[in-house]
Amino acid sequence: MGELIARSVTLGYGDRVVARDLDVEVPAGRITSIVGPNGCGKSTLLRGFSRLLAPSTGQILLDGDDVATLSARELARRLGLLPQSPITPEAMTVAELVGLGRHPHRAMLGGWSRSDQDAVDEALEMTRTTDLAGRRVDQLSGGQRQRVWIATVLAQRTATLLLDEPISFLDIARAVEVLDLVVDLNRQRGTTVVMVLHDLNLAARYSDRLIAMRDGAIVAAGAPSDVVTEAMVHDVFGVPSRVVPDPVSGTPLVVPIGRHHRRH
Ligand SMILES: Nc1ncnc2c1ncn2[C@@H]1O[C@H](COP(=O)(O)OP(=O)(O)OP(=O)(O)O)[C@@H](O)[C@H]1O
Ligand SMILES: [Mg+2]
Repeated sequence: MGELIARSVTLGYGDRVVARDLDVEVPAGRITSIVGPNGCGKSTLLRGFSRLLAPSTGQILLDGDDVATLSARELARRLGLLPQSPITPEAMTVAELVGLGRHPHRAMLGGWSRSDQDAVDEALEMTRTTDLAGRRVDQLSGGQRQRVWIATVLAQRTATLLLDEPISFLDIARAVEVLDLVVDLNRQRGTTVVMVLHDLNLAARYSDRLIAMRDGAIVAAGAPSDVVTEAMVHDVFGVPSRVVPDPVSGTPLVVPIGRHHRRH
């Protein structure tokens, strides 16, 4: 469950077209990462997948259903989005915020159920934020807050997770912890994951598939070892590099070469 297909999708803001006639396939039950330079349209694509942004042409299909035809509640039960810069609510505790992740599952007039509490407790545990439950979200550090936002989307317990830069504020230990958690969810529950990552090396290590974007277009898609090459890095990011096998995982490891390290 969780296959996402964008068919000839055009996405943009007002008159500004960011991506035209895009075709993207995200396989169910796999971890897919989107990589590409700042401003190339990665977040825009995730907004399209999650219906925050309606395409001006084309369709987004979730397991064959056009997301435009689903109710907000139905979509939120099937797909969760961690935005790149969620707006931190004032004067709300961590437990309250993570509890909002249960909203789509609750009956119209129903109260808080045992399964809601279980989902929140589990999400806090998985993200190691249980100790923060009583704290105010607006008084946390950047990395703590990021893990709380991840907990909020996990509490939603959807078959598909869209994570826009889930590790951007995290130290290296917390970053690999979150990526390990993504793999656990994928292996244990078959969760389909689409992430935007800037760290090409972690993206290559933790993903089944990579999608490389530039200027609103897909320039390469496939297994990390096929996608991450010196030519792709140069083409997409405009920087020379060496690509060597990661000593830990064997996946491609990109060593960028700045001006000061180039041989003339
Ligand atoms: N709300 C908006 N209104 C108008 N233009 C926008 C809006 N959001 C993004 N854009 C523009 O759309 C383009 C793609 O932005 P997007 O946020 O998808 O990039 P990105 O690949 O996620 O970049 P980054 O790595 O910096 O997060 C950019 O040129 C950006 O300026
Ligand atoms: Mg972005």
